[in-house]
Amino acid sequence: MDSTVQEPASSQTLNLDPYWMPFTANRHFKRNPTILVSAKGAYFRMSDGTELFDCLSGLWCCPLGHAQPKIVEAVRRQAETLDYCTAFGLGNPATFRLAERVANLAPAGLDHVFFTNSGSESVDTALKIAIAYHRACGNATRTRLIGRERGYHGVGIGGISVGGMMNNRKAFAALMVPGVDHLPHTWDPSQMAFSRGQPAWGAHLADELQRLVGLHDASTIAAVIVEPMQGSTGVIVPPVGYLQKLREICTKHGILLIFDEVITGFGRMGTNFGADRFGVVPDLLCFAKGITNGVIPMGGVIASGEIYQAFMAGPERAVELFHGYTYSGHPMAAAAGHAALDILEQEGMFDRARALEPVLEDAMHALQGESGVIDIRNIGLAAAVDLEPVPGQPGLRASTVWENGIREGLLLRYTGDTIAVGPPFISTPEEIGRMAEGLRKAIRAAFQG
Ligand SMILES: Cc1ncc(COP(=O)(O)O)c(C=O)c1O
Repeated sequence: MDSTVQEPASSQTLNLDPYWMPFTANRHFKRNPTILVSAKGAYFRMSDGTELFDCLSGLWCCPLGHAQPKIVEAVRRQAETLDYCTAFGLGNPATFRLAERVANLAPAGLDHVFFTNSGSESVDTALKIAIAYHRACGNATRTRLIGRERGYHGVGIGGISVGGMMNNRKAFAALMVPGVDHLPHTWDPSQMAFSRGQPAWGAHLADELQRLVGLHDASTIAAVIVEPMQGSTGVIVPPVGYLQKLREICTKHGILLIFDEVITGFGRMGTNFGADRFGVVPDLLCFAKGITNGVIPMGGVIASGEIYQAFMAGPERAVELFHGYTYSGHPMAAAAGHAALDILEQEGMFDRARALEPVLEDAMHALQGESGVIDIRNIGLAAAVDLEPVPGQPGLRASTVWENGIREGLLLRYTGDTIAVGPPFISTPEEIGRMAEGLRKAIRAAFQG
């Protein structure tokens, strides 16, 4: 196979072979490479000069668009001032201030921030904190974890154990954390196809948690982890009252509730966090992605004061939590985080995301009736379209739509036969309308071709 491509921007030849690409059909990609060479605002540019609208804000992580001058400048300045500082027993002003800002944005009661470098690390960190918290409180039998079918919590050992996407689990069964159960997912097309916003049906599915308490006894269960809106599996929106029920059952039985807000945090739901949008406050909240607008990797866990204080009981010179990363609280990421939060807060981006929600909703639901479209869902600035699969070839239909999308000037994203969109908050209503119409053409071509 010839695995080299010409890269016109620099006239260099790329050797594609050595790079083992993540979550990619490597052989197919290397035969048909799509190479992005630059990005500005809501658009990527390919090596042949074609511009592509960034329909998913990178991977849900660049809500403010690309090459934001304030972020570029903040990162440059930080690199010149303090480019690295370990967080193990040392501090730097940018990271302490960012923790304070993140805690101030979080729902009341969530006030201590542990920094990581990704969503996966945030999830594994939250699971470890949950189990260590119960131990610190004298409840060392509380070790079981409960996730949810179709959940995506990254690719760490903890995250795949509580996650519920089959392909992310099946090859790694031997590595799974023991003592994990899964709640059912909440998508039922016979009850909620083409729902706008939160489906009315499905709150009762949270009662499955009560059944698991009956099966194992609450004294063995440490935590339940859910995404408030399941993003990576294709924008599965929580039914009205569902998250409230989970909260009530967790509180009643002393089980910690963890929200994985790696996608829903920092404005994607039109609010600071999904917790605000859905009116339910968890005990631990995982974040990543939007905190730095995707420019420098960063994630974290926000813990309630009660959880933090439970660790603060031993001798003052003793390390309270034997956990952390070389790059935890990296000053460069903190600088990007401050600039991203400045833009979010000072340039009305939460309001803008909220104002664009009905525009996206109408534009996406206008695709109902296209042949092969079997469901459309939306909440906040996120939406998904389910497509009739090619019999016996799951994922082929959506990958064809993806390729057609490039011809329409769209960088789409698919999982299985679901196309997900989460446009940047800086998008205009016209751009969102063009995105939906381009998607319509890409879908038509896939079903006619
Ligand atoms: C809800 C959720 N949790 C965790 C992750 C993993 O994040 P990362 O890829 O930064 O490890 C993702 C990534 O999409 C996510 O959507």
